[in-house]
Amino acid sequence: MSTDVLAAAAALLANGGLVGFPTETVYGLGANATDPAAVRRIFAAKGRPLGHPLIVHVAAVEELAVWAQDPSQDALRLAAAFWPGPLTLVVRRGKGLADEVTGGRQTVGLRMPDHPLALALLAKAGVPVAAPSANRFGRVSPTTAADVRAELGDAVDLVLDGGPCEVGLESTIIELTGGPPMLLRAGGVPVETVEAVLGGPVQRVAAGPARASGMLASHYAPSAAVQIVAAGDLAGRAEELLAAGRRVGVVCLASPPTGVVVLAHPTDNASYARTLYRSLRAADGLACDVVLVERPSLDGLGLAVLDRLSKAAAPRPA
Ligand code: TXA
Ligand code: MG
Repeated sequence: MSTDVLAAAAALLANGGLVGFPTETVYGLGANATDPAAVRRIFAAKGRPLGHPLIVHVAAVEELAVWAQDPSQDALRLAAAFWPGPLTLVVRRGKGLADEVTGGRQTVGLRMPDHPLALALLAKAGVPVAAPSANRFGRVSPTTAADVRAELGDAVDLVLDGGPCEVGLESTIIELTGGPPMLLRAGGVPVETVEAVLGGPVQRVAAGPARASGMLASHYAPSAAVQIVAAGDLAGRAEELLAAGRRVGVVCLASPPTGVVVLAHPTDNASYARTLYRSLRAADGLACDVVLVERPSLDGLGLAVLDRLSKAAAPRPA
């Protein structure tokens, strides 16, 4: 990455532009979080309804205390332990951010991403950067610069290419606004690791109306029908579908059955997470009718993987 491109991206951000940039989780679509007009452009580019709050990305751990109002000891402890990294803290909102960022809420989601290009961009821009995943509303998050261009085309002023994302799915979101710590979204930091640092439990938010947008079932779904299958049932299920003349894509940790399109063959839950969105995108390109995905164990990144798989597999309107 030439320093010229980085300087151009930082200048765009400072002047109200939209920049696609890599993070360790997924690519973000960034705008200056203190500039209402710039933030409104994010919603327009994504086709995202206003009122869905955005995550604000910061360049340093110390910025938690700048953009949050009186962050709790728990919040400070988690930022110290996990930033830079795939953990978003929803905390009481401080002064200075555009109202559009929080959708009028009194809370804000803050995160310091763990990617050298993102950190260099944030430092150079000198502003907090609001950034949702850089996909059109309701689609799978992008994990490469090419995905971002395919999703957003000319709606984004510049896309920084930092290669494929290391984590591959979105950050874990923890709410720390006074009540007990709550998991709003499983993601790149296992919730058990967060609990170990807090020394106590994090409440899992019960299924029901999504607390966090981007948790809607229509998200994360390719055009092919997705079915979650236990490892032991993969071969049998594939055989039935193949016999019925269907084109079958498979994502599995176990050895793939014969006759299928192997979309990904991860070796553990972390590599499952890394390849998940790429394989769901590939399923469409390869014209699969059905995608069989192996149900992961729930440890490590398995919980986040299963969460996204469940959404991809949820029934949705034709
Ligand atoms: O890994 C990530 O988090 C990526 C990268 C780009 O950082 N970003 C991302 O943003 O996934 P987005 O907009 O696709 O998802 C942000 C999530 C949404 O579910 C939103 O509702 C939630 O964060 N969120 C943001 N601020 C919130 C708040 N104040 N209260 C509750 N949820 C909030
Ligand atoms: Mg998103």
